[in-house]
Amino acid sequence: MRKPLIAGNWKMNGLRADLGEIQAMAKGATVALRRKADLLICPPATVISKATMNTIGTGIAIGAQDCHAKASGAHTGDVSAAMLFDAGATAVIVGHSERRTDHAEKDADVKAKAEAVIGQGMLAIICVGETRAEREAGKALAVVRRQLRGSVPAGGSAADIVVAYEPVWAIGTGLTPTNADIAEMHADIRKTLKGILAKGEAEKCRILYGGSVKPSNAAEILALDDVDGALVGGASLKAADFLAIAGAV
Ligand code: 13P
Repeated sequence: MRKPLIAGNWKMNGLRADLGEIQAMAKGATVALRRKADLLICPPATVISKATMNTIGTGIAIGAQDCHAKASGAHTGDVSAAMLFDAGATAVIVGHSERRTDHAEKDADVKAKAEAVIGQGMLAIICVGETRAEREAGKALAVVRRQLRGSVPAGGSAADIVVAYEPVWAIGTGLTPTNADIAEMHADIRKTLKGILAKGEAEKCRILYGGSVKPSNAAEILALDDVDGALVGGASLKAADFLAIAGAV
């Protein structure tokens, strides 16, 4: 009932010269693959417009990595959800741990951004995840519950919200939690969402896993209960790797 979403986060990587990778993904996104999974790439904001033009009518959707919570105004250097939509984005990642760390974003900031994204008719991909110290202290579930309660708008629905569980210590490290730990966390996230979203929405809401997903581990992670796709960093930069991960659905 939940169509998996395979999303790529290019982070601060990618010039116009690299958009050939997205075109190769669009070529490789066959009808059979598109039936199995939704495919999304979130490149830097500077190339969203061009990437969108390159993928019109293909199975690859284009998204963004962050936005400002306000619609417009005196916020030098920031980009609003409306601007990203105008450039062709259909989804925005909010609350990525790199934003939470580099820009001191708090749960309330993330919620305001998610509301801006939803208000623009786009999909908000809301990221949560514990640090290594928090997991070792046995606090991972509690930390993620708190992040969800603070970051997920109560008015959201499964049509406009996706949650991405990304343990901070698994991002870019080659490390991943055990399958049992991923499954436990995803089940707990769904339970927590039941207390936030309107009746029936949590069951339909997609929960992605992110953190060192690659072609070699995608199949086993994507097969876990309550894992409805992946948020992929490094391995989404190359079409062959991204398509291999999508093919593992
Ligand atoms: P890696 O796949 O490079 O570990 O990054 C994960 C991530 O942060 C995606 O948002």
